[in-house]
Amino acid sequence: MVVGVIGIGKIGLALINSFLRSLKKEEIIASDKSKERCRLAEELGISVYENNSHIAKKADIVWIAVKPQEAIDVLEEISPFITEKKIIVSVIAGLKISKIISVLKKNAKVIRVMPNLPLLVNEGAIAVCKGTEASEEDINQVVSLLSTMGKVIIVEENKMDAITGLSGSGPAYVSLFIEAMVEAGVRLGLKREDALILSAQTVMGTAKMVLLGKHPAILREEVTSPAGTTAEGMFVLERWGVRAAIMEAIYAAYEKSKRLGDEG
Ligand SMILES: NC(=O)c1ccc[n+]([C@@H]2O[C@H](COP(=O)([O-])OP(=O)(O)OC[C@H]3O[C@@H](n4cnc5c(N)ncnc54)[C@H](OP(=O)(O)O)[C@@H]3O)[C@@H](O)[C@H]2O)c1
Repeated sequence: MVVGVIGIGKIGLALINSFLRSLKKEEIIASDKSKERCRLAEELGISVYENNSHIAKKADIVWIAVKPQEAIDVLEEISPFITEKKIIVSVIAGLKISKIISVLKKNAKVIRVMPNLPLLVNEGAIAVCKGTEASEEDINQVVSLLSTMGKVIIVEENKMDAITGLSGSGPAYVSLFIEAMVEAGVRLGLKREDALILSAQTVMGTAKMVLLGKHPAILREEVTSPAGTTAEGMFVLERWGVRAAIMEAIYAAYEKSKRLGDEG
């Protein structure tokens, strides 16, 4: 099997690095219009081309990881080489499967993936959905490649805008929360590097407990003892509407993703 990646940006390079864990170097090829990005992938020992058509011709699974505004040009460029045997995987935010199929061929096997940036450290939150022509076997093949990069869920395509707003943009919200914790620690006299370790580790450890089965509401209650310090802190967060702000932020990102998809 040959896996090809078009667009060696942040996501494309992370995909290549992850594929290297389960595939041989000879089974991975990539292309990018930037010589500098091509050089980064070459350093990993894979074959790199400036011509996207070459990837479409050679690869059995073609991953498209260019920016949304470049997507249609790339799809038009590779369209003549897409046969019904190939699987096309798009990680492009907002680009609907129907749009991809309309540029490629009627019977193109398309799978859409919404990853997030922690896939760089194999802790991605990844959602996958399939177009009508892709089979269960095709989606399983893609999920198996993605499973080394984090947690993978399979959804219907109509959930992709919600997922973009929740976990696609999620690392930005969590980073803001960590930044705020660090500034609070510094304000109270902690060294910045100590505050950073304590804040990030708190987020990671809490997330790990939740993923292992502890419900977040129970965890919150367990930390909040009567008339204690956490109860004071929680009261301030609730008074400032932090819970509602987070829900509204995710809703705004969902709506933006939906608008971008409708425009595209
Ligand atoms: N970053 C995230 O957190 C994230 C999360 C979920 C989904 N995504 C999706 O993943 C995709 C890639 O995002 P990214 O953050 O990796 O973007 P990026 O770092 O900008 O990477 C895109 C790469 O594609 C190259 N490129 C542009 N036009 C091309 C063409 N015609 N042929 C071949 N290569 C071309 C770009 O080269 P130049 O720099 O020279 O233009 C760049 O190296 C986007 O569609 C985005 O919606 C990203």
